Amino acid sequence: MRYLITGGCGFIGCNLVRFLLANRPQAQIRILDKLTYAGSLANLGEAAGDARVEVIEGDICDPDAAQATRDCEVVMHLAAESHVDRSIFGAEQAVRTNFEGTFRMLEAAREAQVQRFLHMSTDEVYGAAEGVSFDENDPLMARNPYSATKAGADRLARAYWVTYDLPVLITRPANNYGPYQYPEKLVPLFVYKALRDEPLPVYGDGMQVRDWLHVEDHCRATLLVLEKGEPGEAYNIPAHNERPNMATIRLLLDELGKPESLISHVEDRPGHDVRYSMKGDRIMKLGWRPELEWEAGMRRAVRWFADNLDWLDSSYQRGQEFFEKWYQNR
Ligand code: NAD
Ligand code: TYD
Repeated sequence: MRYLITGGCGFIGCNLVRFLLANRPQAQIRILDKLTYAGSLANLGEAAGDARVEVIEGDICDPDAAQATRDCEVVMHLAAESHVDRSIFGAEQAVRTNFEGTFRMLEAAREAQVQRFLHMSTDEVYGAAEGVSFDENDPLMARNPYSATKAGADRLARAYWVTYDLPVLITRPANNYGPYQYPEKLVPLFVYKALRDEPLPVYGDGMQVRDWLHVEDHCRATLLVLEKGEPGEAYNIPAHNERPNMATIRLLLDELGKPESLISHVEDRPGHDVRYSMKGDRIMKLGWRPELEWEAGMRRAVRWFADNLDWLDSSYQRGQEFFEKWYQNR
């Protein structure tokens, strides 16, 4: 089986590549990745030199690069501008990559007559879950530029199933955490700062709730949906680990042995979704359950960043320009 993984050099992508190599040893994996600030060959580690892995550096918005679908039976489309704050700072790149780029990949997959196209969407497409827990038939009420572009891409992918019979599967995973997550997201960013004894910029009161899914549990779920899911359907991937941000931050400080005095409440993110929450009945019917317990999984992830300081530093440096502009007035 030949797989094309877009965004395979990013956080979830590099974990998925490793997971596939370990669990589907016959897999031939082609990666299409633009290597933006968020992606790097270093994320692939030994997998970059594996004879089963081919890396193509290219932009999914480029119709020629999208032809990387040729000879592939499966496309797993992950490439995206994945950070909400960046999309608020300037939405253009998110619109281009997340919406237009998905269109290009769908077109190229159709031309290549692939057997399966897995589109990685997000729980954020539903918008804020205030007092509710969403199932797959709830309306998509995205509220920030990132989630709006992902909602558009999610529906475009579904349209290619309805209109052209492209066998599309859509996943909507919760907030992931784990090794190789780019240090702009809450957990690795706060580890980076805490290790330097710098203040941790908590948006507002820090009582916003996120459902934390370990990336290993997520990789298992993704492969299951790919192989056993119904084309045309969307699958929520919740972790049932809902925690207010302050609980995650306190745990992280405790694991690092750093004081809570580093916590600094700053101006909130505009349009901040106060809670994400999903029901997972559909994927559980396929036989999946999240396995990693929240506290142990989170402590392990925090430790991974602390043990991989060179990776953390060099990753952070690539985003320096954005961090300076975004946090300077907060
Ligand atoms: P990431 O930002 O860590 O990685 C994105 C990857 O895509 C990088 O390797 C980057 O170089 C590549 N890329 C960006 N623009 C590209 C372009 N125009 N052409 C080709 N490659 C490009 O993101 P992630 O956290 O690994 O997320 C992967 C997918 O999962 C995304 O679609 C995201 O929306 C979705 N998702 C992520 C989470 C999460 O918590 N991280 C949760 C739900 C859904
Ligand atoms: P983030 O990791 O950006 O993921 P998402 O917004 O996609 O859920 O943020 C997770 C939570 O942490 C979210 O409620 C925003 C909050 N947060 C902060 O309080 N400060 C920060 O500097 C960042 C990056 C996030």
